[in-house]
Amino acid sequence: MRKPIVVGNWKLNGSSADNESLVLGVIDGMRELNGVDVGVCPPFVYLPQVEKLAEATDLGLGAQNCSEHDSGAFTGEVAPRMLHDIGARYVILGHSERRAMYGETDEMVSDKVKAALSAGLTPILCVGETLEQREADETEAVVRQQLAAVISGNGIQAFEHIVIAYEPVWAIGTGRTASPEQAQEVHAFIRGQLADHDANVAQSVRIQYGGSMKPGNAAELLAQPDIDGGLIGGASLKSEDFLGICRAAADTVG
Ligand code: PGA
Repeated sequence: MRKPIVVGNWKLNGSSADNESLVLGVIDGMRELNGVDVGVCPPFVYLPQVEKLAEATDLGLGAQNCSEHDSGAFTGEVAPRMLHDIGARYVILGHSERRAMYGETDEMVSDKVKAALSAGLTPILCVGETLEQREADETEAVVRQQLAAVISGNGIQAFEHIVIAYEPVWAIGTGRTASPEQAQEVHAFIRGQLADHDANVAQSVRIQYGGSMKPGNAAELLAQPDIDGGLIGGASLKSEDFLGICRAAADTVG
């Protein structure tokens, strides 16, 4: 049985005051939650603030990106070992916004996964197709290639320490969610791709769904056999919405 994992991706949102009430609200609601891993990924500068607020709680901390380098002349970058040093557990890598707007290639994403793993972080590896690719029937080819780059760069065993997030680009921030059947189909495909290399790794890897997941649609998505949690953007900015999704994930266990 895979433990569900729900992680908030705050993107470029937050302020000291807003973060405090959001995180305290989430921590408060987590008291009644069992059997689910919960994390939040604030912008870099707020990581220490959130780490302090979440100290001695089960709320996991994550970043939204990291460098593939460990140190050196890379102005503006943040190394995974620095994230580990300040108490981060997760790092989102290969988010479609970074692939599309900041030119991250499959190879770069694979290098970042390697750096994050060697720093002791758990990468949340995002994969997913655009609307154009889906309409051209290329969903499986796109996802296969995104995964293949990370498998060839890191080996299949690395996936024992990786969480995958399937995020159809057309569903991110659009209010248009993949249907449970559409999502399940791709989640099963992802697991199948890993199973071609190692059946045990494929069975144990957790695959989150991301893209307009909300309290109202979380339960039916999370009820699918290969959906093991969610990567939540917009709905992670309000503690009640985020907790609603976390509760739906906990209900799949109980
Ligand atoms: P959304 O974003 O929940 O706002 O669609 C999800 C994501 O981009 O991770």
